[in-house]
Amino acid sequence: MAEELSHQRPKVTLNMIRSLYKKNIPIASLTAHDFPSGIVADRAGVDLVLVGDSLAMVALGYDNTNQLTMDEMLFHCRAVARGSKAPFLVADLPFGTYEVSPEQALESSIRLIREANMEGVKLEGGIEMAATVKKITTAGIPVLGHIGLTPQRSASLGGFRVQARTVTGARKLLRSAQALQDAGCFAIVLEAVPAPVAKFVTQALTIPTIGIGAGNQCSGQVLVQLDMLGSFDRFTPKFVKKYADAFETNSGAIAQYVRDVKQRSFPAEEHTYSMRNEDDIKRLEEIDIAAAKVSSSGM
Ligand code: KIV
Repeated sequence: MAEELSHQRPKVTLNMIRSLYKKNIPIASLTAHDFPSGIVADRAGVDLVLVGDSLAMVALGYDNTNQLTMDEMLFHCRAVARGSKAPFLVADLPFGTYEVSPEQALESSIRLIREANMEGVKLEGGIEMAATVKKITTAGIPVLGHIGLTPQRSASLGGFRVQARTVTGARKLLRSAQALQDAGCFAIVLEAVPAPVAKFVTQALTIPTIGIGAGNQCSGQVLVQLDMLGSFDRFTPKFVKKYADAFETNSGAIAQYVRDVKQRSFPAEEHTYSMRNEDDIKRLEEIDIAAAKVSSSGM
């Protein structure tokens, strides 16, 4: 099945994302952070691959996403783009690379497109980012908005908390979503908001919403690949469905490898190369190893 969905499938364009939305077909999005995770997302049929700055925490071991630099993001985007050919490719603008001015945001976006083969960028923030979004989209770069829980601003949000839990909060979220839509976003990520609020915002927009922790009435969904594969034995948010237990599978496999190495049961016959001439084995065994050792250390 995975083979059938190989990168023979047509390239996903912005028009295809729009067409999925118009046909009410959910947009399947997933993060990728390197070459293998890019390939696997492509082969599995993901529509939109996001090189999210979650990369900082799940793949690079930083305490938060704000420590990620532009150089690190560019490096990882290039690797993903080498593996992920069909999906529409979007990269997060790292913290500190877009907040100073719309011009700074445009420059950073251009770097992600030109130097790292991305097709669009994502930035966090609502109504206050509208002028920045306008600047980037006017230059012809597709922008994915991100509102609700915005991890780059988690300190000012009081931590990783569910957002817009009241009608006032829902209205505010909608105002932000509309401002981002008017500024030219092609879609908006809604993170950690109650499902009825996500549905309300989705129904009020004419562009897709991509939910993460926002219920199943968004126009699409996104998850962090390493989370949904169960790559960690530590806490993962409530909204993550673990489709596999990679931590258990991988650590079991590695422990078996360690045992095999200790017992010399790996490598086995099928993992080793033969000599060109069988007789040479005997000839090798006849060489006086002790003498060979002496002559090589004997200077
Ligand atoms: O950084 C990220 O991976 C994200 C998604 C989870 C939406 O922003």
